[in-house]
Amino acid sequence: MRTTSGDDTPGIDAPGASARPGLESLTRDLGLLYGGDYNPEQWTSDVWREDVALMREAGVNLVTVGVFAWAQLEPRPGEHDFTWLDEVLDLLHAGGIAVDLATPTASPPPWLGLRWPETRAVTPDGVRLSHGSRNHFCPSSPVYREHALAIAGALVERYAAHPAVRMWHIGNEYGQVCSCDLCGAAFQDWLRLRYGTVAELNRAWGTTFWGQRYDDWAEVVPPRAAPYLLNPTQVLDHRRFASDQLLSLFTEQRDLVRRAAPGVPVTTNFLGFHHPTDYWRWAPQVDVVADDAYPDPAAPESPVLAALSHDLMRSLAGGRPWMLMEQAAGAINWRTHNVPKSTARMRLDSLRAVARGADGSCFFQWRASAFGAERFHSALVPHAGPDTRLHRAVRAHGAELRRLAPVVGTSVPARTAVVFDWSSWWAAEERARPSDRLDVMAQLQAYYRPLWRAGIPVDVVHPAADLSGYDLVVAPQLHLVEDDAATNLRGVVERGGVLLIGPFSGVVDRDAHVRLGRSPVPFADLIGASGEEFCPLPAAGAPIVSDEIWDFVGTVWGERLRLDDGEAVATFTGADLEGCPAIVRRRHRSGGQAWYVATVPPQQVLDEVVRQCVLAAGVRPAVESLPDGLEAVRRGPVLFLLNPTPDERTIALPGVHHDLLTRTDVTDRVHLAPEGVVALIERTS
Ligand code: GAL
Repeated sequence: MRTTSGDDTPGIDAPGASARPGLESLTRDLGLLYGGDYNPEQWTSDVWREDVALMREAGVNLVTVGVFAWAQLEPRPGEHDFTWLDEVLDLLHAGGIAVDLATPTASPPPWLGLRWPETRAVTPDGVRLSHGSRNHFCPSSPVYREHALAIAGALVERYAAHPAVRMWHIGNEYGQVCSCDLCGAAFQDWLRLRYGTVAELNRAWGTTFWGQRYDDWAEVVPPRAAPYLLNPTQVLDHRRFASDQLLSLFTEQRDLVRRAAPGVPVTTNFLGFHHPTDYWRWAPQVDVVADDAYPDPAAPESPVLAALSHDLMRSLAGGRPWMLMEQAAGAINWRTHNVPKSTARMRLDSLRAVARGADGSCFFQWRASAFGAERFHSALVPHAGPDTRLHRAVRAHGAELRRLAPVVGTSVPARTAVVFDWSSWWAAEERARPSDRLDVMAQLQAYYRPLWRAGIPVDVVHPAADLSGYDLVVAPQLHLVEDDAATNLRGVVERGGVLLIGPFSGVVDRDAHVRLGRSPVPFADLIGASGEEFCPLPAAGAPIVSDEIWDFVGTVWGERLRLDDGEAVATFTGADLEGCPAIVRRRHRSGGQAWYVATVPPQQVLDEVVRQCVLAAGVRPAVESLPDGLEAVRRGPVLFLLNPTPDERTIALPGVHHDLLTRTDVTDRVHLAPEGVVALIERTS
């Protein structure tokens, strides 16, 4: 699986040869990783000793240390205090706990921003941010970068050879965007590399519109407060730039660490489908794909969304193991109303990540803070201490993770891919579009949901990825598609596979210019239908008839399609779209099929469309006839069955299986407790 974007935007080095150490350098001797963020700077040294003892009892084998400790490590410019960290690392090592040591550069000390105000980020409205929270740095400020490299360098020099340090962690959840003049100049440099000449920039940005023509690079600014709509390609390119700029911040610290500690993997924590950062470009630059996941336990859709995010992470890692760096053990504190996880839910969420390819399941954080902005965030050790229901569950979970050794290093083979691309997401969100009710993430989830429900293994892929291993490829809303990616997707059908495309796809090119002709221009002949108008629907939607599925009401979106040589699976009836196909399919001589859905159907209709595509592609679920609401994933030799529902459930499974978690055998039928999980290995005799 190819994970790079195929985009030749300069500024980011090509990924190095994959001789880099990865997660296996830890899991080889530690097994599945278990632990979390550890912030000893918030506690006295007697607590550190208790922490190490408790960690050992809980089966914790990895903690991430120092993520926000810059001000403790460098209380005044150039003056370091490492004594406390020396002691903490020695204590952890003596206790057999490995350390993922962080460069603390996400939260610069107050002195940096006060002495050098240009190190603080500026919003698009021109407000310079203050210290007192975190992440207030400007990613382009040479002074910030110099100080960040200096503290990272000092840490590396001191701890590169420390035996506790088994992984390095750069920054935290990169995602900040800054609109200051320094970032403006860096944006100009990035554009110069991308376009070469101002004339080419003018072409790509379409600056003859509204008289936006630039005569010199110096005239170009980031998107800032303006009277009316901004140039959409300027906004899109700025998002691409902002992601790359943060990535360059990561890579410069990473390279410093790699030079001093070549045998130790370097990572940073991703954040699922994180809007500001194009992880297709980031993933080849990290030694370990690590993710933070905070599904809302109160939201019924959370299991599906978490699974999708985990499938993305496994795909970003090229199918190799990734790790869950952060999750909550109970409640978080940053939504408006924070329902805690049950202890069963904590275990279920953690095991879902393992089932979907994670070789580590870690938490934010080890011990609940007594002060600060996150004092009401749960932790592995609650305020009430270890004699608590939650901590007992933490210990039990640590013990059972040890029993999952057979999955370590294994993969989750998938013949189905869902296409997702950050540039397309950004372009589709352009403010002045036909409808803001057609939402990329909602579409992605709607098309993924039936695959999840059926237990079909799914990879998430970039549109230019190697798709030869997939029989079914689903592109829920690929609004922006580059020419080579369009050719790549067409190849699925030409090879005899099934391609399912959702609405408003193939509309713009890499510069976000509308492709001229009957839509979807790159796919019209493939799907056997072509359109001439996007028609967002009135609130009541539009009636649609179908002999193959059933009659239904399409909502949000319609397209004035004409049937060419495809088949209408469903057709608009009445209103202004009378007779226009709403769902089309074209069967190809290759045996392949191309489908296009030109509306937002009710979920059950989409489920049926996906079911037919699955059948046509011949892809198989992890288990046949999975009862509704249950999750099934096969990872290596293990079949994980998860029950996110509040009810006890039973599933028929012929033969004798051994549940690694409970160390019991099950025959022909598996009972799943509410929010329960089993990890089954088939008994050979
Ligand atoms: C993460 C972050 C952690 C902590 C956590 C709370 O996004 O990386 O530092 O803030 O959220 O849920």
